[in-house]
Amino acid sequence: MLTHVVTYAPEEPVHDADIEDINKEAFGPGRFTRAAYRIREGGPHDRNLSFVAMNGAYVVGSVRLTPILIGTTPAMLLGPLAVRPAWKKQGIGAALMRKSIETARLAGHKLIILVGDEPYYAPFGFRQIVGHQIEMPAPVEPSRFLACELEPRVLKDVQGRVRHADSGGR
Ligand SMILES: CC(C)(COP(=O)(O)OP(=O)(O)OC[C@H]1O[C@@H](n2cnc3c(N)ncnc32)[C@H](O)[C@@H]1OP(=O)(O)O)[C@@H](O)C(=O)NCCC(=O)NCCS
Repeated sequence: MLTHVVTYAPEEPVHDADIEDINKEAFGPGRFTRAAYRIREGGPHDRNLSFVAMNGAYVVGSVRLTPILIGTTPAMLLGPLAVRPAWKKQGIGAALMRKSIETARLAGHKLIILVGDEPYYAPFGFRQIVGHQIEMPAPVEPSRFLACELEPRVLKDVQGRVRHADSGGR
């Protein structure tokens, strides 16, 4: 049915209000205190690697990627990922994940981290970060601290404080 057709596009400023709506509904007021939000506060996400799922002009899902530094290593932080309740379980979240990861890979990025549920993210290549010396700006449940290596073993020697790439050494 035409009304259920979903298309995917890089995010643009015109989508901002809809995305805010979707994230508010998905994560509630608690989203502002999360470690990942604290990092994203440090600067903009990368719209070229952030995607929306659209039904016509209506945004039904969104994923964002934000450039970060872990110590001195550049990486990307994935999230928020959210799909409007009425549009869940149709593969939209998975399509947004694949698009953002593949675009990041093609752009030369080597590492993506996120805070989320491993059962959902494992099929896209995310694994729990084990035995790391990576410091997030707020406490994170270890089982939810995940990474996807876009180049083999790139995580091996990564250590240090996670912050937005624009915040430099701060
Ligand atoms: C997570 C989310 C983006 C998935 O979007 P979606 O378009 O429904 O995803 P898909 O259609 O690709 O996949 C749906 C499957 O993922 C499962 N799933 C959804 N959230 C999950 C989670 N947190 N952990 C494990 N599995 C999950 C669903 O049960 C469903 O399983 P099924 O196919 O066996 O029925 C969506 O449920 C959402 O917006 N949730 C609220 C925001 C959120 O929690 N985001 C971060 C996730 S940690």
